[in-house]
Amino acid sequence: MAFRFEAAAILLAGLLALATLASCNIEGDILYAQRMEWYDPNNVLESWDPTLVNPCTWFHVTCNNDNSVIRVDLGNAGLGGSLIPDLGRLKNLQYLELFSNRLNGTIPATLGNLTNLISLDLFDNHFSGTIPTSLGALSRLRFMRLYENNLTGGIPTSLGSLTSLQELKLQKNFLSGSIPGSLGNIKTLQYLRLNDNMLTGTVPSDILSLVVVGNLAEL
Ligand SMILES: *[C@@H]1O[C@H](CO)[C@@H](O)[C@H](O)[C@H]1NC(C)=O
Ligand SMILES: *[C@@H]1O[C@H](CO)[C@@H](O)[C@H](O)[C@H]1NC(C)=O
Ligand SMILES: *[C@@H]1O[C@H](CO)[C@@H](O)[C@H](O)[C@H]1NC(C)=O
Repeated sequence: MAFRFEAAAILLAGLLALATLASCNIEGDILYAQRMEWYDPNNVLESWDPTLVNPCTWFHVTCNNDNSVIRVDLGNAGLGGSLIPDLGRLKNLQYLELFSNRLNGTIPATLGNLTNLISLDLFDNHFSGTIPTSLGALSRLRFMRLYENNLTGGIPTSLGSLTSLQELKLQKNFLSGSIPGSLGNIKTLQYLRLNDNMLTGTVPSDILSLVVVGNLAEL
């Protein structure tokens, strides 16, 4: 009797541990859902196997010592399709490198939740829609390169809150409206490229002063 109870208890504990392991692979589940959304004609995502305990051994994915994803490196990979909003839940992500693909759809507003993000490289794709205001919350961001896409609408004033930003490259889109003076708050800015859009008005003096008193080397 006691023996059967014990065996049942051990079995139950084992099942619970398995269930916990499976449910802990949140980041792997998110990336696998993204894989399913993408067209991958060159099979660069072949190693993205959802049955592994975490995505840390997958090609093009880098984790920290806690097995949490810090980099996704898929520039020039021939990928098509759109970004899933759940990417915004990769909470330790520092580098999202998806440049020079054929990605389309909008930039998810949820990317504004990636508070550890250092580099957002989405340039040379087919992204359309507006630049989400929420991206102004990426306080550690140093590189925002969204150039050569089909982005429309205005440059969000909120981008002036990106006080670690070194490069803001938004050229070759269909952005309209005036250049927000708030960008003059970014004292760390070294490169600001906004050419080949449909912007109107003049360059705000707060931005011009970055050339004189800040670090801005290229405008
Ligand atoms: C993105 O491209 C794919 C095929 O390349 C197409 O089926 C899909 O409709 C496009 N989506 C958007 C939002 O443009
Ligand atoms: C992430 O961002 C979106 C839109 O900016 C927001 O609605 C959502 O509540 C945020 N949090 C999580 C955990 O997704
Ligand atoms: C992007 O803009 C170009 C040029 O106007 C256009 O030919 C192309 O169809 C657009 N692509 C998308 C995905 O909106």
